[in-house]
Amino acid sequence: MADPIDGAGHLLREELLVMRRAKISVIGGGNVGASCALWLASKELGDVVVLDIPKAEGMVKGKMLDLAQCSPIERFDANITGTTDYADTADSDVVIVTAGLPRKPGMSRDDLIQTNVKIVKSVAEQVAAHSPEAVMIVVSNPLDAMVYTAWKASGFATNRIVGQAGCLDVARFRTFIAMELGCSVEDIQALLLGGHGDDMVPLPRYTSVHGIPVTQLLSQDKITACVDRAKAGGGEIVKLMGTSAYYAPASGSVMMAEAIVKDKKRILPCAGYCDSEYGVGGYFVGVPCVLGANGVEKVIEIDFDADEKALMDESISHVKDLVKIVRDTFPELAV
Ligand code: NAI
Ligand code: 2OP
Repeated sequence: MADPIDGAGHLLREELLVMRRAKISVIGGGNVGASCALWLASKELGDVVVLDIPKAEGMVKGKMLDLAQCSPIERFDANITGTTDYADTADSDVVIVTAGLPRKPGMSRDDLIQTNVKIVKSVAEQVAAHSPEAVMIVVSNPLDAMVYTAWKASGFATNRIVGQAGCLDVARFRTFIAMELGCSVEDIQALLLGGHGDDMVPLPRYTSVHGIPVTQLLSQDKITACVDRAKAGGGEIVKLMGTSAYYAPASGSVMMAEAIVKDKKRILPCAGYCDSEYGVGGYFVGVPCVLGANGVEKVIEIDFDADEKALMDESISHVKDLVKIVRDTFPELAV
């Protein structure tokens, strides 16, 4: 690589950009995808490529040009590309998959399965062909079934496939607790596991406010209200906006990407592959994962009491039902 400082001592922008570390591609440049690009670029996590279908070429190229033009104001440097050509995504370190339909009012995430499994299958095949070493973060819904689909269609090792749900769902839970207590969200630590459905499992017993168990600060009724609102958090926004949330989902996805590209070994709730873990038997479910350069580097097993175990078992059983629909619809994804 050429010396990034020229004879006159000036830094050469082009060389600096070549020196930049990571390449992160986002598949699907809609609400979640474009918001991911915004956080990725503004945090200078790497160069960003956003890919959409040919019908959306103008939209994705225009959005990414618009985003690039924020950079002098917001003071970030990144190469930002909008494209419809997978060649532009080649050799990405991380690929975030947001392609697919979002839900409309009255729909559950599960109603999207038939359409989105076809989209995610074709996307994962292309990602595997163009970025065989990437870690793939799946966001498309129904999340737990789409992570499975991306795994089967890509042939990636299980550590390089992970789903985003827990980071969002736990952020909602933390937000509602902070609202209730009138304290900073930063001081709330919480855990939420299971699938990304109405039966996700917030865990008040593992939730604290700067180390103080939340059970000492809020009544059981108030905790239950926060739990219920977190579980229904996606639907609340769909009802208000007519489509699903995107700022917080993108923020959660980018937190995961950051842990991977910076090899931070963060412990985050993600849809990770569990076989013997939690006795799941070979499915992706929301569990505490260590995220680093190798993707999911470890699944952490925690103790449940009887009630928590019953909720977790129910949630896992729902994930298995969703995966069964994928397997029945696409037998090639069953093997
Ligand atoms: P959107 O409709 O705004 O964007 C989806 C984009 O995907 C569109 O631009 C569309 O053209 C593109 N697309 C469709 N087929 C494609 C393909 N084959 N290749 C590349 N791009 C393709 O939807 P939004 O709001 O961005 O949501 C995207 C997905 O993320 C939905 O399935 C939604 O349910 C899911 N989601 C998941 C969350 C999570 O926590 N896991 C949270 C929020 C949304
Ligand atoms: C959400 O939870 C719809 O999965 C999306 O907002």
